[in-house]
Amino acid sequence: HDHLITSKQLSRADIETVLDRAAEIDADPSAVADRHANRLLGLLFFEPSTRTKMSFETAMKRLGGDVVDMGSVESSSVKKGETLADTVRVIEGYADALVLRHPKQGAATMASEFVDVPLLNAGDGAGHHPTQTLLDLYTIRENAGLDDLTIGIMGDLKYGRTVHSLAYALTNFDARQHFVSPESLQLPREVVYDLHQADGAGIREHDSLEEVLPSLDVLYVTRIQRERFPDEQEYQKVAGEYQIDMETLEAASDDLTIMHPLPRVDEIAPAIDETEYAAYFEQAHNGVPVRMALLDLFLQEGGDGDE
Ligand code: CP
Repeated sequence: HDHLITSKQLSRADIETVLDRAAEIDADPSAVADRHANRLLGLLFFEPSTRTKMSFETAMKRLGGDVVDMGSVESSSVKKGETLADTVRVIEGYADALVLRHPKQGAATMASEFVDVPLLNAGDGAGHHPTQTLLDLYTIRENAGLDDLTIGIMGDLKYGRTVHSLAYALTNFDARQHFVSPESLQLPREVVYDLHQADGAGIREHDSLEEVLPSLDVLYVTRIQRERFPDEQEYQKVAGEYQIDMETLEAASDDLTIMHPLPRVDEIAPAIDETEYAAYFEQAHNGVPVRMALLDLFLQEGGDGDE
C-alpha cells in the first residue's frame, strides 16, 4: 500500500507482516538502529496527542532518522487559514513520510490524494486510527492470542476511532466481538452493517457488561470522547456510566486482559493498574516497536514501501 488510512485496507497477511516485524525489532532494536539514518518523518498533528505523536517520534529516532514537526495549529500557518491540501504538499517536500492527525473524519483520505510520500493516518475525527489498531493487535497477540478470541469492546463506540479500526481488523481473525455501550453511544449503523458483511465470527451489541464479562479473554475499554459531542449536556448524560473497578472484576476470568488506548478519565480504577489484568501501559509501550515496524515497511525502497 502507498498510504495507511484505515484498517479496512489491511488483510490478515498485512497485519501479520507488521506484527512479526515488530516482534523482531522488539527482540533486538539495535539491529535497526541506523536503518533509516538521514530519513525524516513529518509530524502533522491538528489535535492533541501524547502517545501517538511521541511514539512515532521515538520510533523514527530509534531507526536512526529524525522528525520535522509542524507543531500545534496555533503556532503554524494553519492559524492563517492555510488548507490541509497545501500544508501536506509543502511538508512532503521536507520529509520522506507523513503522519497526520486531524479532527475531521476523512481528512487522511483527502490529504493522501495530494502527496506521493507515504501518509499514515494517526486519527481522523471519529473515523479511524489504524496504527493504534496494529499496536492493539500486537498486545492482544502477546497476552491472549488472536485465535479463538472473545473480546468485549466497551464505552464510546460511536465516536471512538480506535474501536472502529480495531473492529474491522478483528474480522480477519474470526474473533467474537461483544460491543457494550449506552444506547446513545452504540457503533454507527454503517459500521455494524460492514462488520456483519465481513467474514468475522460475528458481533453482538449489549447495554451492560454483566452478561458477557465471564466469557471474555480481552476487555477493551474506551474513554467517552467528550470533544466529539455537539452538546455538553449530552456528554453529561453518559459521563461516568461505564467504569471498571475490582468489584466489577469478581465475575471475570482470572486470565482476562484489560486494554485501553489511553488517555483514561475514570473508566478504569487505578487499583487495577497493579494487577495481572492490566495491559494498558504495556499497550502504550508497544506503540514504539509497532510504529518502528510500520515506518520500516513504508520507508523501504526509498519511500515506495510495499507491505
Ligand atoms: N491512544 C492515543 O491515540 O493516544 P494519544 O491521543 O495520546 O495519541
